Amino acid sequence: MNPTRRAAVITISDSVAAGTRQDLSGAAAKEKLEKLGYQVVSTEVVPDEVSRIADRLKAITGSRTVDLIVTTGGTGLGPRDVTPEATQAVIDKNVPGLAELMRAESSHQTRFAFLSRALVGVRGETLIVNLPGSPKGVAECLDAIQDLLPHALDLIHGKTGH
Ligand code: MTE
Repeated sequence: MNPTRRAAVITISDSVAAGTRQDLSGAAAKEKLEKLGYQVVSTEVVPDEVSRIADRLKAITGSRTVDLIVTTGGTGLGPRDVTPEATQAVIDKNVPGLAELMRAESSHQTRFAFLSRALVGVRGETLIVNLPGSPKGVAECLDAIQDLLPHALDLIHGKTGH
């Protein structure tokens, strides 16, 4: 039997960090992950700053307490959208297929899906998945890859049997 997978959620948003907007996307990510059987061990909010985001990704992956980190927001084209840059700076391996699949599948709901520059990558023994900032986008993107995540996490932990 598979042990329960542990996940952390990071909401990346200047306005949520400043307390001027409610964190709907982080809540959507937590709810969706729990429905998929993950234990969400932490949720937090970070402003749209590369160093702050990268520091949190490094700290959480370094603590080896979670199998999966999901970020929400900051993947678009705005001047403050830097989540993919922060993610790129900390990952050991890029997993472009999962990011492509999120865009391809959710483009059936909205063609704006292609405006997300979300990355998926591995740092140490943790998979990092960038999701867009809309709660709907969070659910749609997780739906698109959820069936592949267990095998991806097994591979990261060196379980390569088929
Ligand atoms: N993906 C899905 N599945 N559903 C959505 O509603 N919104 C798009 C896109 N990806 C969306 C989506 C929009 S409008 C934008 S601008 C980009 O994600 C980037 O969003 P972000 O900057 O909040 O991360």
